[in-house]
Amino acid sequence: MSDPLSPAQELERLSAEAVASVGQAATPEALEQLRVRFLGRKSRLADIMKQLAQLPAEQRADVGKRANQLKALVETQLASRREALAATPAASAIDLTLPGSAIPQGRLHPITQTLHTVLSLLTPMGFEIVEGPEMELEYYNFDALNIPREHPSRESFDTFFVETAPDPKKGRRLLRSHTSPVQIRVMETRKPPLRIIVPGKVYRPDPLDPSHSFMFHQVEGLMVDHRTSFADLKGVLEHFLSALFGPETKTRFRPHYFPFTEPSAEVDIACASCRGRGCSTCGRKGWMEIMGCGMVHPNVFKAVGYDSSRVQGFAFGLGIERIAMLKYGIKDIRLFFENDLRFLEQF
Ligand code: PHE
Repeated sequence: MSDPLSPAQELERLSAEAVASVGQAATPEALEQLRVRFLGRKSRLADIMKQLAQLPAEQRADVGKRANQLKALVETQLASRREALAATPAASAIDLTLPGSAIPQGRLHPITQTLHTVLSLLTPMGFEIVEGPEMELEYYNFDALNIPREHPSRESFDTFFVETAPDPKKGRRLLRSHTSPVQIRVMETRKPPLRIIVPGKVYRPDPLDPSHSFMFHQVEGLMVDHRTSFADLKGVLEHFLSALFGPETKTRFRPHYFPFTEPSAEVDIACASCRGRGCSTCGRKGWMEIMGCGMVHPNVFKAVGYDSSRVQGFAFGLGIERIAMLKYGIKDIRLFFENDLRFLEQF
């Protein structure tokens, strides 16, 4: 057994203990408990003071001095710790053992994701991304695209007109009903060869239903060169569609009419649900229409000052919502625009 500590040694030990525990006290209540423990009436210090008179004379002065030093030390330590706690109330309130709260993570809208996918499949084939205005002039949306005034084909591109004074040469202002006007804007300012794709919003006054929305997204494609054939068009689109929907996906080109292309076609892919046999998803046809395309009409070249005996081109236009619906099996276009997080968080 070791010898019991002398009063001087004990005071030494007490001051070390007091400094350490005051430094760790986290609340004013804890400080008060420490004050009682080190300086209170029942503390070791109080005992030592009481027994001072019984000590041999040569120790008495020294122990008395050390006891007073301990008292002063504890008092200043308590005071400065109290001040520190008051200055940083939050520090004492932080519980580092609590589990963290997750930071909500954003993501891209499924339409934006699909748009990015479509663009990333076409740019490696040399198509450059170009944009155009959503508020257009009648001339670009219709006239220059070989859709004359009073011609019934205008009706298939039902349009929102904007009430302002019409431009004397280029007609009324409108919300573009397709991205094809950007073909004209680009050809007006640039010479062939051209290879562009145009992503953007388009507007049509259709009543909302599972397959119609008054705003949707298209990607337009245009290639013009000295020799550009329908075979090039088929090659580009077949490559694109097999990259988008998988190599086994069957495609077909079905004759169609667009005023700005001749010949024109609609492209179908075999219905993903029934693989061509016919089901309710594809309206028993076995095929789903996916885009329009064709060879640029000579009148369109004429409108932009290209010589149609020296250049040829193809154009195509596809709807992004439609592609997203086919890719993800979504039956109602309105889901894309209702901003219901339960829907959006799935992508
Ligand atoms: N602009 C047409 C539409 O919106 C699509 C299309 C673009 C067709 C280019 C042929 C060529 O329906």
